[in-house]
Amino acid sequence: MNIWYEEQEHIFSLSNERISYIFSVEKDRYLSHRYFGRRLKRYGGSGRPYFFDRGFCANPLPEDRTFSLDTLPREYPDINQGDFRCPAYVIQTEDGRRVTRFGYKGYEILEGKPGLEGLPSVYVEDEGEAMTLRVTLEDEVIKVRLLLYYTVFQDYDAVCRHVEVVNGGDQEIYLERLMSMSMDLPGTDYDVVTLTGGHMDEKNINRRPLTSDSVVAESIRGSSSPQAAPCVVLMDREAGEHQGEVWGVNFIYSGDFQAAAQVSQYRTVRVQMGMNPLTFGWSLGAGERFTVPETVLVYSDQGLNGMSQTFHSLYQKRLCRGAHRDRVRPVLLNGWEAFTFDVDEEKCLSLAREAAKLGVELLVLDDGWFKNRKDDKRALGDWTEDERKFPGGIPRLAEAVRREGLEFGIWLEPEMVSPDSDLYRSHGDWVIRSPHYDPVLSRNQYVLDLSNPQVRDYVIRSVSDLLERADITYVKWDMNRHITDLGSFCLAEGRQRELSHRYMLGLYEILETLNSRFPHVLFESCSSGGGRYDGGMLYYMPQTWASDNTDGVCRLGIQYGTSLLFPPVTMGCHVSVSPNLQVGRSTSLAMRFAVAMSGNLGYEMDFRRLPEKEREEIRRQIAFYKELREVVHKGRFYRLANPREGNLAAWNFVSEDGERVIFCCYQILSDVVRASVLVKLRGLERDRVYRLRQDGSCYGGDELMYAGITARPAEEDFTGHIYVFDRVTEG
Ligand code: GLA
Repeated sequence: MNIWYEEQEHIFSLSNERISYIFSVEKDRYLSHRYFGRRLKRYGGSGRPYFFDRGFCANPLPEDRTFSLDTLPREYPDINQGDFRCPAYVIQTEDGRRVTRFGYKGYEILEGKPGLEGLPSVYVEDEGEAMTLRVTLEDEVIKVRLLLYYTVFQDYDAVCRHVEVVNGGDQEIYLERLMSMSMDLPGTDYDVVTLTGGHMDEKNINRRPLTSDSVVAESIRGSSSPQAAPCVVLMDREAGEHQGEVWGVNFIYSGDFQAAAQVSQYRTVRVQMGMNPLTFGWSLGAGERFTVPETVLVYSDQGLNGMSQTFHSLYQKRLCRGAHRDRVRPVLLNGWEAFTFDVDEEKCLSLAREAAKLGVELLVLDDGWFKNRKDDKRALGDWTEDERKFPGGIPRLAEAVRREGLEFGIWLEPEMVSPDSDLYRSHGDWVIRSPHYDPVLSRNQYVLDLSNPQVRDYVIRSVSDLLERADITYVKWDMNRHITDLGSFCLAEGRQRELSHRYMLGLYEILETLNSRFPHVLFESCSSGGGRYDGGMLYYMPQTWASDNTDGVCRLGIQYGTSLLFPPVTMGCHVSVSPNLQVGRSTSLAMRFAVAMSGNLGYEMDFRRLPEKEREEIRRQIAFYKELREVVHKGRFYRLANPREGNLAAWNFVSEDGERVIFCCYQILSDVVRASVLVKLRGLERDRVYRLRQDGSCYGGDELMYAGITARPAEEDFTGHIYVFDRVTEG
């Protein structure tokens, strides 16, 4: 890993053994992107811009009619100087103008990677793991500096970028648009991939050719959202799941964002990621500093799967934190789909007893446990237990569950308040709203104004109180609506545009405090399922409830799409009842398990009502999973067949040490002609032998990868099979 600056040509190059990121300083002022891709040992000037006198071009250097910013591949482009593509930043000065002139000032190379104050970010544990380049741009008139950070890692094929704005002048400036990164890639022969979806239909991989114009993925919902993920991927047209060049861009942020790929007239593509300018705005006073959240850029020459594996290992090892990061996660039972709001101590305890017998390790009490919460119309915000349902309180229940041999976890939705609650009755001005209109309800609730320090204190106090009183080792942290009525009683009139980002900063502060106060607690993030499944939340909560849709077939696509960015250990995946409560489909217990065991396994059903045969089957499933979960949680993940494109879903895991392989294969509908189903595995050692546990038969690694496995054609709809291979010791 290295960062160097070549003074003659003004070239910056960041590289490790596999990737290089190169840009230059043109005319002593302007940063110009040169290359991001496979590592170059020697760089002689590829990507150098050529200058001509072109029509409609503005010339910032009066003596040179050939030089125009519109034709330059750029790193962090501006507005109002002749680059008419999307600017990375727009800064308004006190006179209401948006004309600025930032130019290159200098650079520093730092060991390791600095943190981002108050924001989630990829981190290093040792300075030797990474190096960071900080480039300074300055506007000498208003005395404002932009600090561009680039980190390159020894072990990951990723570059992290973010920006800081330092107002060294004496006027207040207004930050109107401030992207986390911008990069101009050469040519336009790319496909663009985004992740789109909705509630219960998260993370559809959406690939199409980039032809002209712009592709924009964005959210103004107050969260990263199930509708669009903060991610944009460019792929070589020929690239696929396992081969070809791919550039992945993912924002480490949980609020409103905008991701774009914009084709220019000069056959280049500008890729950008940052906070959504529609809901962002920030007044920066003299002497103040502002940090833009971070973006991770991944390059892969091994197709989409290679990109995903880099995201997976980076996020698992250097974004997720805390005691649970390296631990296998407990198998849990959550009562939500079985009980909804109708919970009480006796139900929980009897469920815990049954769960313990089947091998479950953690019982989760979902919604409905707090005072007056008999449905979703009331009580959010009043986080004390309903004593009619829990006469001994949550502490007594937690203790009793623990005596049954299980850990105890609880559901909370701390960012919200119901109009029918003591909290709202006493603090009506704590919600996000405008003073002129009634706020809009969603799921009968309002959003608390986390930009208000008093609100943050309340949230921290009420959650801490519960976690201190009761022996709780897991929290499901929910967020079940999007934000409307952006207005705050606590922010000054001229600063209302800051609310979206201040909400996120407030949330991050709360989560940081709770993480450090309760390091033993495993937090699982949820937003009606995977509605806020992003890198920002993973920094505080190492797992996310992937979807409210627990149907085995739908889950195949959801989990497949989620794996584009996030490792299976971070995906909460539960086996629920059949027929499924969301789509009414009947599937076998075996199939539902085969899907849920490909992530972080849990169950969501009333174990007390199961026929003995199913209980026995679940006992076996859990035992099987416990033996293999190390591979699922820590191994490498290879996508093999996309269920949203055909009748088949398949993937395989390879353990960290290569000793074990789990191959999962699902056929959605059965096929009357019983055509053979052939799947080729990935990531094995060609010259080694693998024994299939189920029947002891042995296969060469080359055979499994090149000839593949012929799965038995399904004789019924919705089947899932798990094959476990052990690498045979030589000799
Ligand atoms: C959301 C979650 C569910 C459940 C309910 C409780 O919808 O995604 O899993 O916790 O809230 O109200």
